[in-house]
Amino acid sequence: MTSHRGRFTNRFSPSPGGVVGVDTASSAERAEELRNALVDTIIVDHTAKGLKMPAVVERAMRKVPREVFTPGVPLEKAYANTAVITSRRGEETTGSVSAPYLIAEMLGQAVDALGGLEGRDVLEIGSGGYNASLLRELVGSAGSVTTVDIDPEVTDRTASCLKRAGYNDVTIVCADAEHPVEPGRHYDLIIVTAAAWDIPAVWREQLTPDGVLVVPLRTFGMTRSWALQRSGNRLASHSHRQCGFVSMQGDGAHRMRYVDIAPGVHLRLDEGRHMAPEALGGMAADLLTQPREQAWAGVSLPPRTVLSDLDLWLAARLAAEAGEFVVLTAQAAAVESGIVAPSWRFGAPAILDGGAFSYRSALRWTGRLFDLGAIAHGPRAAAAAGQMVEHMRAWLEADGPSPILNVLPARTPEGDLPGGTVLDKPHSRMVLNFPTVTSR
Ligand SMILES: C[S@@+](CC[C@H](N)C(=O)[O-])C[C@H]1O[C@@H](n2cnc3c(N)ncnc32)[C@H](O)[C@@H]1O
Repeated sequence: MTSHRGRFTNRFSPSPGGVVGVDTASSAERAEELRNALVDTIIVDHTAKGLKMPAVVERAMRKVPREVFTPGVPLEKAYANTAVITSRRGEETTGSVSAPYLIAEMLGQAVDALGGLEGRDVLEIGSGGYNASLLRELVGSAGSVTTVDIDPEVTDRTASCLKRAGYNDVTIVCADAEHPVEPGRHYDLIIVTAAAWDIPAVWREQLTPDGVLVVPLRTFGMTRSWALQRSGNRLASHSHRQCGFVSMQGDGAHRMRYVDIAPGVHLRLDEGRHMAPEALGGMAADLLTQPREQAWAGVSLPPRTVLSDLDLWLAARLAAEAGEFVVLTAQAAAVESGIVAPSWRFGAPAILDGGAFSYRSALRWTGRLFDLGAIAHGPRAAAAAGQMVEHMRAWLEADGPSPILNVLPARTPEGDLPGGTVLDKPHSRMVLNFPTVTSR
């Protein structure tokens, strides 16, 4: 538990019009203009991803003044479609006002899974005030919002920003959300805004019987925001989105390891490893110096193919093979100089054994459509790259299935698990599967 635990409800009178934090009428107008332009951009971005922003989320985003929650930041930056960093510990970012498009996607996941948020009781894990204000708009006067943060500086800042923005009925708690936040209370929605690696039982237990947990969760070193609906002691996914978040701190913290394998090239090691990080890094560094083999799947990607789903498919399949599943990351300079050519430099699925280091490589434009590929280095490179593209073809042949995640308590017997790839964590057994059209 954290040593500092406190709770207070923000009981302040709303300012006239509910919006403060802008010095003059003209900056208020400018803020509104920027806010509307940002929401327009997010809607276009949603459409490009095949998503639809619920009208209630759009209304809330057009109303809440984000600049109030980013004090000291120029208006243009407050309304950029990116996170605004608010705290760092050494090299690590520990707090931010989350990126608006991501907040919109996660609120959309919650609205869709629950069929609306009006009148709902919500717990937000990870405070700042901006998301809590949007939630306040979404639940209306019949609902409630509690926000919890482990960092007292964050809860203090959240309280003063909410006051300035005129949201006077958000309960703010300073505690480690790994433990019950308001003992005895249940929420229709728990929305987590820091990246989790496991799901403690108390998150499920604090939900109403069919409540929803929206959580950025790492599986195989890759983070997705999952909307998980409770059914008894199980959580089953309703939707997921690709995302990135600052890591969970406190008793539920789980450190991801990075090892350097060449200048600006790293392996992210998160789970299911058999070898020590240093040994893995040494092996990959050695293999990377050997000539590369490129294999192509020879496919034409249908428009709007969700490649982040392919990455989880590859992770599930590669993790079942001999070898170590890892995630390859690289600095821009390492990609530009051609040391590696990953599909996405912030995380490409990769596998490593004594004979080859292979990873999903950048797409190839065939003149009409994109094709998928794999690169491998080492004595077994040609076979390993070929094997990886076989998995890609299999995914496309199955119609590019989307993963389903089921989360069950840690001690669930094998026979009670649904079919799929099982990831065991201290609090839960997570099962990923990819229903195909015939089995859906
Ligand atoms: C991305 S920020 C939250 C952004 C915020 N929701 C907003 O409206 O923009 C993540 C926050 O999670 C908090 N956090 C991390 N681990 C936590 C834990 N175990 N319990 C509660 N809060 C935690 C951090 O202190 C940080 O302030």
